[in-house]
Amino acid sequence: MELGLGGSRALVTGGSKGIGYAIASMLLAEGAAVAICSRHRDEVEAAADKLRAIGGPVVALAADVTRPAEVEQMVTDVAAQFGGLDLLVNNAGRAHPGTFATLTDQDFQEDLDVKLFSQIRCSRAALPHLRASRRGVIVNINAIYGRQPDPNFFATTVDRAACLALSKALAMELGAEGILVNSVNIGFVRTPQWTNIRERRAPGLTEAEFLARTAAPEVPLGRFGEPEEVAGLVAFLASRHASYITGASIDVAGGMGRYL
Ligand SMILES: NC(=O)c1ccc[n+]([C@@H]2O[C@H](COP(=O)([O-])OP(=O)(O)OC[C@H]3O[C@@H](n4cnc5c(N)ncnc54)[C@H](OP(=O)(O)O)[C@@H]3O)[C@@H](O)[C@H]2O)c1
Repeated sequence: MELGLGGSRALVTGGSKGIGYAIASMLLAEGAAVAICSRHRDEVEAAADKLRAIGGPVVALAADVTRPAEVEQMVTDVAAQFGGLDLLVNNAGRAHPGTFATLTDQDFQEDLDVKLFSQIRCSRAALPHLRASRRGVIVNINAIYGRQPDPNFFATTVDRAACLALSKALAMELGAEGILVNSVNIGFVRTPQWTNIRERRAPGLTEAEFLARTAAPEVPLGRFGEPEEVAGLVAFLASRHASYITGASIDVAGGMGRYL
């Protein structure tokens, strides 16, 4: 299927690794110009060098999505370099496991800042450019724990539910302007985030053992997803084939999620 992304200008937050990097790769392969950001300049520039091998314009920015001034500057820079912006993928985030008993107020506030407020800030900064585009699209990368609470990921559970509400309400508010807003909800996808979790929870297990044991009781397909298995949906949502899809909440989770 021809996605028709040639000429599109995209910003993927947290594009230096994991799911964000796979999304950036897929968008580039489909003909878009892509900007990526992360907090570590060396890592984001190294990722951009690898992406350039795919072809197409790539811009790398060191920016922390929890810092409003850096978000404003990042979006201004991307729009200036690409001559506008058509697609924002709010992907930057982190895993912060913990229960209600173990998490502090500060943990909750930091998690809200990186998950919910990053999406608010980046969307607000991008909106003037998305309005100027003929096909403005926002894709928010969220988690199925926003729909299926898990007390072991308590902050994620609470914050991703708020992110889902943000996506839906923003889709309603921006619908009249033709700007599409959708949520892609991740279950378990193999990324550096999970390397960190394994090192904390089960340092004695190999990665393959840890992922297999984590997936077995939870995921009907019986395995972790790969970042590329998320990227295809994001590219589709950015394409002209998804022009009547907004306010949707779509799981990429191998069947995980015990709800209708
Ligand atoms: N993998 C999963 O199973 C899973 C499950 C549910 C939800 N998710 C969500 O999917 C998204 C991507 O996750 P992932 O697994 O690909 O994570 P990852 O491998 O840890 O990559 C996260 C990316 O975000 C960047 N980042 C983190 N904090 C940032 C900040 N404050 N400002 C700018 N960039 C920041 C990281 O770079 P720096 O650290 O260098 O800044 C990196 O590029 C996240 O929102 C995550 O919560 C993932």
